Amino acid sequence: MPEVHRYLKMLTLLATPVIALAACGGIAPTGVATPTAPVVVALPTVLPQTSDGDLEIFSWWTNGGEADGLNALFAIYKQANPGTGVFNATVTGGAGTNAKDVLQARLQRGQPPDSWQIHAGRETFSYLDNLQPLTQFFKDQGLDKVMPRLLLDQLNIKGEIYTVPVNIHRSNILWYNPKIFRDNHLEPPRTIDDFFRVAEALKRTGITALAVGGKEKFEASHLFESVLLATFGPDDYPRLFSGDAAIWDDPRAAQAIDTMKKMLGYANNDRSALGWSDAAQLVLDGKAGMTIMGDWAEGYFKSKGARPNVDFGWAAAPGTDGVFMWLSDSFGLARGAPHGAQALAWLKVLGSKEGQDAFNPKKGSIPARTDADKRLYDEYLQWSIDQFAADKLAPSATHGAATTNAYQAEWHNALETFSRNLDGHALLQKLKDAVPDLNK
Ligand code: GAL
Repeated sequence: MPEVHRYLKMLTLLATPVIALAACGGIAPTGVATPTAPVVVALPTVLPQTSDGDLEIFSWWTNGGEADGLNALFAIYKQANPGTGVFNATVTGGAGTNAKDVLQARLQRGQPPDSWQIHAGRETFSYLDNLQPLTQFFKDQGLDKVMPRLLLDQLNIKGEIYTVPVNIHRSNILWYNPKIFRDNHLEPPRTIDDFFRVAEALKRTGITALAVGGKEKFEASHLFESVLLATFGPDDYPRLFSGDAAIWDDPRAAQAIDTMKKMLGYANNDRSALGWSDAAQLVLDGKAGMTIMGDWAEGYFKSKGARPNVDFGWAAAPGTDGVFMWLSDSFGLARGAPHGAQALAWLKVLGSKEGQDAFNPKKGSIPARTDADKRLYDEYLQWSIDQFAADKLAPSATHGAATTNAYQAEWHNALETFSRNLDGHALLQKLKDAVPDLNK
């Protein structure tokens, strides 16, 4: 049985609630929280089997593009470390919605994978008790000299670095079907008002205007963060995740929820049955005009043989032009890693120019290093590299740049429920109630 299924089956069988009650302190000026108390979790009695002699790498990269990128990293690792194997412990589910529960149970049980996927930024605080500092390693590899200031600041947690970033993704992208747009004389919408004009035109032709998923429990929250960014603008948007619940009383919060509701009125009704890649596939197949998803969708499109600006087009999510909503996938080294030396060799590949230039063109992300070879990147990614350098930056909430794991769980649930019942009052209340989880 593939590992992912084994994990999920185990968890289902055990049916043991995993309740993370990490209590933490305040939020530092850098926008990160300081943990003050240990995590308390109800544990399953049996845990899934782990790797034997092999380095174990844990992630949620199972889709086309994601899996291709991961395999490219494994190939480099194996070539550089002959005779060693890699155990690819993936748990399917975008944004790690399933993987994080499995991981949490393993960490509490003292059975960590050697190295696992962590979003740079506030999410890293969710794992501080479980990670070994990599500050010296970072310096030895010269990584402090080749990564942008934004990332270095986000990685610095009270003077220590705990993870090695392999990429930078962009959350706020609208993907569209160029043929549908051409046939209907439409331009990609720049503003929220434009979006509704385009959506109305598509609706009249009988095409689903906006493809939205929900099966992986993060697709609605993903869409919503772009709507919030458009509504609050790049200067005020970060305040939503600063720990001050009063910001949700700002009339723009209710306005964003209304916009989201109206957008969902132009979306497919079977959202809960579709994953993010199913929604992307609807656009590729000409069954939907647009979808709003991070640029792992680009990796997915390319894994299906689709060509940028031919088979799919893109633009900033409506109302967010000039702002790059970023997130970064990084990996850490477990405290008590069963294969510590191999794990460091793996992190070395992740941080290297060769590793990043092999991974990112497939993954649909731009390198975390500033010295990567731009010629290896396609039209979309070259555009993205330029935008990252020129745009204002905003941190993704859905993908851990601005939020802890505890907050994300509430955030995903609130938005996924809203996507089904469209109850704006209930959503607003849940978002206010979730604010203390930014410190957990
Ligand atoms: C994000 C992650 C991306 C991509 C996406 C969908 O959280 O950072 O690398 O995997 O989920 O699975």
